[in-house]
Amino acid sequence: MRVLVTGAQGCIGAWVVRSLLRRGLDVLIFDLVPEPARLLLITEPHERTRLRITTGAIEETDRVKALIRDEGITHVIHLAAVLMPFCQQHPVKGALINVVGTLNVFEGAREAGRPVRVVYASSSAVWGPEDAYEPRPLSESDATKPTTHYGVFKQANEGNARVFFSVDGISSVGLRPWTVYGVGRDAGLTAAPTIAMRHLVLGKPYQIPLGGFMDLQYVEDVAEAFVMSALSPLEGAHVFNLAGEVVHMDAFLEALEVLRPGARRLISASGPQVPVAYKMDDSALQRLIPGIPKTPLAEGMRKTVELYEKLRAEGRLE
Ligand SMILES: NC(=O)c1ccc[n+]([C@@H]2O[C@H](COP(=O)([O-])OP(=O)(O)OC[C@H]3O[C@@H](n4cnc5c(N)ncnc54)[C@H](O)[C@@H]3O)[C@@H](O)[C@H]2O)c1
Repeated sequence: MRVLVTGAQGCIGAWVVRSLLRRGLDVLIFDLVPEPARLLLITEPHERTRLRITTGAIEETDRVKALIRDEGITHVIHLAAVLMPFCQQHPVKGALINVVGTLNVFEGAREAGRPVRVVYASSSAVWGPEDAYEPRPLSESDATKPTTHYGVFKQANEGNARVFFSVDGISSVGLRPWTVYGVGRDAGLTAAPTIAMRHLVLGKPYQIPLGGFMDLQYVEDVAEAFVMSALSPLEGAHVFNLAGEVVHMDAFLEALEVLRPGARRLISASGPQVPVAYKMDDSALQRLIPGIPKTPLAEGMRKTVELYEKLRAEGRLE
């Protein structure tokens, strides 16, 4: 078994690689950037001795196919992508990375000459805004109505994954996170709750530029969901909602105040609701891939703040 993780230097990627290494699995990292900056924050040096890193662009078809074929890859956890703001500004480049890049992974799996299982990051951005739906948690059988290019690209990936199973028999799992938080989350529209926790630890003021509700999901749980989906024997082209804890930004600020009294003086929130429905039912995932952890929000926030405090004490937090 040999796992290729694309986008491995990103936030979710770093925690996925950490989980794979702790399971003693053979991991190959692929990313545009060579430096494992986030992984350095969350692992000890002895855990990284077996790490192999390759660099490249996911949209380069020949490179990605050769990597999967020649490196003996049996599982791909595909996370490489650009996030919502980039895709809104640069839809063509965004599609090359997010859609063509995902097609490259599936074509690479098809041409590897051995069975290759694909787990990829979709997103809750496949949903439209909350008011586009009945007021109940959405299940995977509800219609996706994305209102951003990013969401449409993720929707396309889910469709392509279905075709790669029905035509080529490639089994896949697509997971739809909402807002992932935890050490290492610093990119994308919904990074703000984590950026707020980092500012709090640094004693700096910060305003979360969003209001309304978010479904916050602790990054370690999200990484486990990706790894357990890769290890699962589930056949077919599956797409699953990932649900964490839905919280209003005011309640998030209150929880921060409970965690570190005085937080309210530094951290505030003001701005629009993210235009993505936030009530999701993830019982299908819990049923078909049982045992994925769900850290309560207060505990995930505590772990995040404590890790940032440790990093600051060691002089490793900018
Ligand atoms: N973080 C969230 O809340 C969230 C929510 C829903 C879905 N997702 C999805 O999860 C995945 C990982 O998200 P993340 O938060 O870790 O993002 P991130 O921005 O931290 O990481 C993305 C990684 O992809 C790499 N990358 C970007 N363009 C590339 C390219 N052309 N070729 C190769 N590598 C490239 C980046 O260098 C980066 O290391 C993405 O597919 C994202 O769309 C994330």
